[in-house]
Amino acid sequence: MRISVPTETAPREQRVALAPDSVARLIKQQQLEVVVQRGAGLRAGFRDAAYEAAGAAIVPDAAAALGGAQIIAKVQPPSADEIARIDPGATVISLMRPGQSADVVAALAARNVTSLALELVPRITRAQTMDVLSSQSTVAGYKGVLIGASALGKFLPMLTTAAGNITPAKVFVIGAGVAGLQAIATARRLGGVVSAFDVRPASREQVLSLGASFVANELVDASAEAAGGYARAQTQDEEARTLAAIGRHIADMDLVVTTAQIPGKPAPRLITEAMVASMRAGSVIVDLAAETGGNCALSKPGETVQAHDVTIIAPLNLPSTVAFHASQMFGRNIVELLKHLVKDGVLQLDAADEITGAMMMTHDGKVLR
Ligand code: NAI
Repeated sequence: MRISVPTETAPREQRVALAPDSVARLIKQQQLEVVVQRGAGLRAGFRDAAYEAAGAAIVPDAAAALGGAQIIAKVQPPSADEIARIDPGATVISLMRPGQSADVVAALAARNVTSLALELVPRITRAQTMDVLSSQSTVAGYKGVLIGASALGKFLPMLTTAAGNITPAKVFVIGAGVAGLQAIATARRLGGVVSAFDVRPASREQVLSLGASFVANELVDASAEAAGGYARAQTQDEEARTLAAIGRHIADMDLVVTTAQIPGKPAPRLITEAMVASMRAGSVIVDLAAETGGNCALSKPGETVQAHDVTIIAPLNLPSTVAFHASQMFGRNIVELLKHLVKDGVLQLDAADEITGAMMMTHDGKVLR
């Protein structure tokens, strides 16, 4: 059975779905034949020769990569051109933007291509190793702090120098999920004094264990955590008290990194214009929820804006900017998924299975979600 890895064609996408280490595992452990489009890994730092050394065959173009494969592994959803080149009956595994990609899903069903959305891997312990949202959030949390630190006109660490002592920067992380926890850890490694806020009570222990302080919020209660460990949307009263807690704390912060999201909904607005205006000149906000609209009222997704002498950065697709390791982690997630899906070298798609069924967007010519 052949799995193929085409070159990503979406603008600014530098990742590749499988790095050479994952290719080697698929060949050795799953007895798959792996085909990689020439140059597919180059922007992530993987040469064709590394794929060949791992056992893959290199093919010259997208047509050769997509045609003849039973499984296509991609990062971004397939384009109309790509779908037209995939064999009917094949399976695409990629991010699919569920709920926002009706055209793509209709085209996949019309061509009788099965599609599995990586965003829909269920949040159960045994699927944790397959979860690209987690692995890529780790990358975003790390890079978000680096971007903020370089935009800040201050050191993060405390320094004792001949030119006097430097006090450490104060870093505030809003949302302590996977991205937020990595942001906390990264800011701590750089020497910042870190505090964090989240509505899920379970996050408090995790924040403290990383050496950050937890911003007290009397409304944090067990009901803030919905199915799968995700936060639910807040009531109006809860939201007002959340804003008050953030508002009290933010004026004294140098760098704020926000990561708060609610699955399937726009990101909660947690930093108002008045809060931005309360901050010191030269402070920096990095809004990692920009893809879902942003946590700061003044964020412009994909742009950097200056307002009230504060820099507000709202980057998109940060994992692509750390393409080597992001691709390596993405690929390992796919290998784990394929361990679940491939039995004796054959792809087994059981719609009744808790993991497979949850991920299926199209199958047997039908749109399933
Ligand atoms: P996310 O990316 O959906 O959201 C980021 C964070 O924002 C979450 O911690 C959320 O509680 C927080 N948030 C939402 N609304 C907020 C508000 N109004 N104010 C402040 N914070 C707010 O979350 P992520 O990173 O995906 O993680 C959520 C949970 O899921 C965590 O407990 C994580 O450990 C768990 N998880 C479980 C997995 C599994 O079991 N397979 C895989 C990945 C995560």
